[in-house]
Amino acid sequence: MHRDNKVRTLCMKDVNAIIREHDLILEVLDVMGKICDTMEGGRQMNKIYLSEITEFMDGFMDQYHHNKEERIIFPSLLGGSFNEDGMTVVKLVNQHAHGREMSKIMKHAISTMSNWSWNANRMFGTYARGYALFFTNHIFLENALIMNYMERGMVPTETKDESLKPVEEVSISDSYGELPKTLQKWLLD
Ligand SMILES: [Fe+2]
Ligand SMILES: [Fe+2]
Repeated sequence: MHRDNKVRTLCMKDVNAIIREHDLILEVLDVMGKICDTMEGGRQMNKIYLSEITEFMDGFMDQYHHNKEERIIFPSLLGGSFNEDGMTVVKLVNQHAHGREMSKIMKHAISTMSNWSWNANRMFGTYARGYALFFTNHIFLENALIMNYMERGMVPTETKDESLKPVEEVSISDSYGELPKTLQKWLLD
């Protein structure tokens, strides 16, 4: 986890952004499960479509969302100290790293796919299903952790130290935000 000298206080704006991002990720993971169903049923999915999924996993989930959690959200929740939730946060950070490894295997599977490569299809499908389940549970745990802090009144409406390490927002109204719909359309192709 990245460590900043000063820890930015978490506020409702941050929480709302994280929840919106989680909702989008859950939608994508849900469609990924359906794509796995069709691949296991023998359908050959277009490699370009599958690459869009791994690009979302790397570009949106890992480089943007997980990076923000590790740099700002988790340190803010812990208040700069390793309190009783520290082990949960360590587990969440380890899960981010595990997701990165799964993504590498899925990209390798895509690169070796061809019409006669049933193994690569099966490898992609197996890892994609595992990834979808893994990160669905991961997000439920993060949401529960954040809710716990909110219920304890530890998330103010606004932060007083907004100038500290501001979060660079990625617009989720762009192609990332459209991905669940795009994937649904491909499924019906
Ligand atoms: Fe996370
Ligand atoms: Fe998250």
